[in-house]
Amino acid sequence: MKLPVALVLLAAVLPSTTAFHLGSGHQRFDDIERRNDKSSTSLSKRTSCENSASDRACWGDYSINDDWYTTIPDTGVTREYWLVAQNTTLAPDGYERYTMNFNGSIPGPTISADWGDNVIVHVTNNLQNNGTTIHMHGIRQQNNTQYDGVPGATQCPIAPGATFTYKFRATQYGTTWYHSHDSLQYSDGLLGAIIIDGPASANYDVDLGPMLISDWFHESVASLWDYARIGIPPVAENGLINGTNTFDCSDSESSVCLGTGVRNEIVVEKNTTYRLRLINTAIEGYIRFKIDGHSFSVIAMDLVPIVPYDTDSIVIANGERYDIVFTANATADNYWLRAIYNSDCGTYNAYNANIKGIVRYNASSTDDPTTTTQNYTAQCYDEDYSNLVPYVSQTVGSVATEFSTELNYTYNNDIWRWTINSSSLIVNWSEPTIVQFYEADGAADLSWSTDANVWEIPNTNEWVYFILHDESTSDLGHPMHLHGHDFFILDSGSGTFDESTLSSLNLINPPRRDTAVLPGDGYLVMAFNINNPGAWLMHCHIAWHASEGMGIQFLEQTDVLLDTLDNYDQIETGCKSWDEYALPGIATQDDAGV
Ligand code: C2O
Ligand code: CU
Repeated sequence: MKLPVALVLLAAVLPSTTAFHLGSGHQRFDDIERRNDKSSTSLSKRTSCENSASDRACWGDYSINDDWYTTIPDTGVTREYWLVAQNTTLAPDGYERYTMNFNGSIPGPTISADWGDNVIVHVTNNLQNNGTTIHMHGIRQQNNTQYDGVPGATQCPIAPGATFTYKFRATQYGTTWYHSHDSLQYSDGLLGAIIIDGPASANYDVDLGPMLISDWFHESVASLWDYARIGIPPVAENGLINGTNTFDCSDSESSVCLGTGVRNEIVVEKNTTYRLRLINTAIEGYIRFKIDGHSFSVIAMDLVPIVPYDTDSIVIANGERYDIVFTANATADNYWLRAIYNSDCGTYNAYNANIKGIVRYNASSTDDPTTTTQNYTAQCYDEDYSNLVPYVSQTVGSVATEFSTELNYTYNNDIWRWTINSSSLIVNWSEPTIVQFYEADGAADLSWSTDANVWEIPNTNEWVYFILHDESTSDLGHPMHLHGHDFFILDSGSGTFDESTLSSLNLINPPRRDTAVLPGDGYLVMAFNINNPGAWLMHCHIAWHASEGMGIQFLEQTDVLLDTLDNYDQIETGCKSWDEYALPGIATQDDAGV
């Protein structure tokens, strides 16, 4: 079925990320089709309405009411992308530095597809001294763990000169991003947006595309690791919005401070309604986003459409996304678009006030806005969960497996390590979890090395309740991200979770997403169903913290996991070339590896 996609308009207004879109063949992936073959439900479909500015809820024969865990349009379309990881000197904010990037730009090309399409991404590693991988953040990868892109969990790092081909089906729709999952690499620029077009829970005229927001250092993040790992994260010099910003060179004698940076700008037309797809790709920071003089509706959290709610600012934690819709209904003028970096949730510096873009009603204006904003108190936790109501309701089953865990840290020999139940994650790049599993022929009695932090959850369709307590007294929030699932947020708060309340938690349509904040010195109660075989990482999305070991791997549905590893040849070949490259001691791993 070919979907009527009325997004011609969109192409004209997408930001300047160069879509690298060679050949969109129509070959089908029988393997992917088969693995995603799910019987459709009895939901009544709207017949062939047209997705348009006045009816974003519709999507051909499908709509916003469809449960995308069970209903996926069969488009028969395959989108193919070629990404080359490379290290080059760039000056995103007018300050030249060594970066790692895909295809020469930060962010890399946007990967776009329609709901139900197949996507192929060929990743060639042209980095000089590093392995790499890419992970499609938030993509559920049902029965597809072998393409999840986590070194040491699902594959070996791609060796310099080698190529790895990722395949997945866009079973969900909305806004997300891809990034290297190799140590701190995404913080040096190895990332880009993923847009999967589908229905929406509110109408809008124009899709402005993705807005990736990050902090930004003037040195390579990898080179700052020796400093960060002693427990004092370095302070970023700047931040970027869609890979650009200004930087004031007047205090800098450095010849690499070029002063050529520009701010991200959006030109709007009075009374037109816009969709903007916000993605926090930061290394460390929580961001409060706002546009002076404008309020907006929030229509999706991560890849989950929500019942729209209105606000004039929103807090986005690392790895999280929110899609918003706003109308250009203010006095025609220039307005600051602000990504206010929340102090208290991490390091703080004056640059925090400089992560800004501009919304212009008059395209020919070159003036800076003169608008102001109030002061906000730092919020190191999520939006109010009572506002985050999934549009398609789902109910959590009662608990079968309960894990009550403790987050803490160790500090030995000047090295800071985060621990979950006293164990700090270190993956083995040369012996990824699924490789060990495959080579043991799926033997259930495999003994995992302690620091692999493998948690086996074998029982299909049981519900896991995972309670995470922050015992570290460091009072930072931790945006916890789970691969392979959207999880349900059953509770969170400060202090200790009272386990006697477990049976009285609300199980009817709680917030559901792939990333949520464990509040500092507090707790987070997550739930998910055991229904996706794989080795799935769960980790803090503050890049320093992941490198410092704040993560575990769930090994899920071990009885059927082997059946899904039909791409094992590519993984094996990849590991061979990785070992040839790395074993002579060239690539040493001095962190968790993810
Ligand atoms: Cu955004 Cu484990 O990833
Ligand atoms: Cu953290």
